[in-house]
Amino acid sequence: MELAVTHLRTLVGLATRTDPSPLPPVQDIISHIQSLYDSGRPFHTKDLLQCIKVQLRDARDGIIQTIRVPGVDEVIVEFPVMTGQVFPTPEQGMELIVRNPCIEYLSVQELLQDCDLRDENLAYNHIQIGHYRFLRNIHTKVLYSDLSVASVPDASELLRRSSRIWENTTQCQALRAILMSRKDISISRIVGLALGSFATVYPSLQDRSAFQHALLLTLRDISCNMQNIAQQSIPCFAQDPMCNIVDITAAEDAGIKILEDPDGFLEIDDSTVVFSCAPDIPVRQIVLDLARPAVLIWDKLRNEDDDDHSADPASPRVMTCLRNIYEEFEFPDYDEHFGDLAVYIRRN
Ligand SMILES: C[S@@+](CC[C@H](N)C(=O)[O-])C[C@H]1O[C@@H](n2cnc3c(N)ncnc32)[C@H](O)[C@@H]1O
Repeated sequence: MELAVTHLRTLVGLATRTDPSPLPPVQDIISHIQSLYDSGRPFHTKDLLQCIKVQLRDARDGIIQTIRVPGVDEVIVEFPVMTGQVFPTPEQGMELIVRNPCIEYLSVQELLQDCDLRDENLAYNHIQIGHYRFLRNIHTKVLYSDLSVASVPDASELLRRSSRIWENTTQCQALRAILMSRKDISISRIVGLALGSFATVYPSLQDRSAFQHALLLTLRDISCNMQNIAQQSIPCFAQDPMCNIVDITAAEDAGIKILEDPDGFLEIDDSTVVFSCAPDIPVRQIVLDLARPAVLIWDKLRNEDDDDHSADPASPRVMTCLRNIYEEFEFPDYDEHFGDLAVYIRRN
């Protein structure tokens, strides 16, 4: 994985719809997308993510110059690979260098609401291709980096300390009790999504991220105790493009493998525990299209339309699934390190 430097931003390149027929008026496109959604067909599938993953790898290796992604209408849209292009930036003495392509996920709400604002080539694209951009010195071309936890031992110590504190809280004990009350569920892996970087420059985000990664280890411990199996039997994964080489190494030492997008999603199945906290992407919509994981710990379901403007809004499909298939429990927050989450355990 490439060293991720702070000030990571993405941009979407020019896209071309491969079907040249003119598109219908926006209102008709919206009705079409709505009817596709209402049909219940999953918009996110492992086959689609796997196909994009292979193309991202081939683009990074210089084998392909275009990434092809189908919209929800199944028409392919082509995105040019922009790696190596340089853009100006207002930051003094800096420029932006475009590096690897990456996936941009849109919620169904964004797909429907912003239809008239998007390039019409992207009218149907809930998955688009963006690129990571990094700040670098305009003269020396050295990437800008200001990691505040710059060494792996420091990051490991932060993770260990956070784990110790979290494990001794009444909140952690309460979470253990909730999960231990359902020893009948079978768990084979833990996946954390969008847990941030604990080797970051922002102290408040750093602590949240360290506690959130610590929670992954707690979840693994609980799952192993529930099933009376050894700790190594349950792998622990996390996916967040903000993670840098210091996060990756320290997390690995603690037993958490940090994966590139979309590998975290590809690990999820019905025997997974998924934990996500304040993601920038529609995690709930993606995950519930892919599987019915055994346990979900993520944003508490609010009333209809409450969170339409969040980056991870519930959707009618998410609400129906959570209400019909899962039992909801209070998630005990600690020191605002997690937020207003809930624990969802699949009913058998
Ligand atoms: C608002 S921050 C939340 C970070 C942390 N969970 C917290 O509560 O402070 C949103 C996070 O979503 C992450 N994110 C964005 N795209 C993602 C992707 N494709 N997969 C996983 N995480 C992603 C961002 O990198 C960022 O760390």
